Amino acid sequence: MNEPTVMSIETSCDETAVAILRGEQLLASEVASQIAIHQATGGVVPEVASRNHLRTIKPVVWRALEDAGLSISQIDAFAATSGPGLASSLMIGTSAAKGFSVALRKPYLAINHMEGHLLSPFFGKPGGVRPSVALVVSGGHTLLVEINQFGSYRLLGQTHDDAAGEAFDKVGKLLGLPYPGGPNVNRLAAQGNPARVDFPRSMLDSGDLHFSFSGLKTSVRYLLPKLGAMSLADVCASFQEAVVEILVTKTLRAARATGHRVVAVSGGVSCNTRLRELLASSCRERGLELLLAEPSLCTDNAAMIGYVAALKFAAGHRSPLAADIDPNLRLVASS
Ligand code: KG4
Ligand code: ZN
Repeated sequence: MNEPTVMSIETSCDETAVAILRGEQLLASEVASQIAIHQATGGVVPEVASRNHLRTIKPVVWRALEDAGLSISQIDAFAATSGPGLASSLMIGTSAAKGFSVALRKPYLAINHMEGHLLSPFFGKPGGVRPSVALVVSGGHTLLVEINQFGSYRLLGQTHDDAAGEAFDKVGKLLGLPYPGGPNVNRLAAQGNPARVDFPRSMLDSGDLHFSFSGLKTSVRYLLPKLGAMSLADVCASFQEAVVEILVTKTLRAARATGHRVVAVSGGVSCNTRLRELLASSCRERGLELLLAEPSLCTDNAAMIGYVAALKFAAGHRSPLAADIDPNLRLVASS
């Protein structure tokens, strides 16, 4: 029997993305970014994002079909991100997927955006989803999760306040860099001295696996009037070093605590070159296997949603068309 072909749609925030997978093989992955639109306001305005999803969704679906060399009638199931995310944005993707499901009498699958990020480091790798410790660092979340197997996760730690990506974005804004702050702070940091400012490493010695980044952001704010001759690149490098050191230390602690030898890292912030570099050297030193999603799978995309959908579809999962969006959908309940 032919492997099922699944179309996945991702519109949880400001990327309109559509992917097509046959089994676990990626046939097409299209992402229409709204970054240029949100640069004018320095952040995402939900209504603007939603209106643009509505405008873009159809052409992006047709582009994905064209890339895959398929017609819509050849799709066996339609999946969409149902949360977490912006309500008005989630509505567009789920409505489109449900519409296709109804019109073509094909199953619908509601997918958790965070499960997409979580499993993205395993996508296309031999052995599929493996028992591991996972760090998920995105614009809205910072999570440490134990993966037992596909569908069985345990929350080990999370942020008490800002997510790592949110801290990057807020600091970028404070420093007058264009939206989104993360990649721009990363770019400037490459020319800076990471030891120039000794920013606080909040909760580094707390002994647990939780995070806090709002104090670090406040330290940057207090530094601003005293910036003087200090280069922006040095501030970016020092800030980035503090965030990266906290993320890597806690991830290694989680690996030690659980005994897992595989470390999986995902989410937009995992594009960060310094984070990738320090994770690689630290894991190598300790004999841990590091799985990083390739950069195109780190920031929001529909391929990662399609991967979860393909695994769910193969396991017999189907969602009712009445399944609603949930802007606050959790990956696992807090312990
Ligand atoms: O996973 P993602 O695309 O969207 C969410 O689900 O939130 O993550 C976006 C976040 C933003 O905060 C962005 O600034 C950050 O990822 N980001 C980075 C880098 N590239 C993206 N942060 C630091 N360094 C980067 N190179
Ligand atoms: Zn995301």
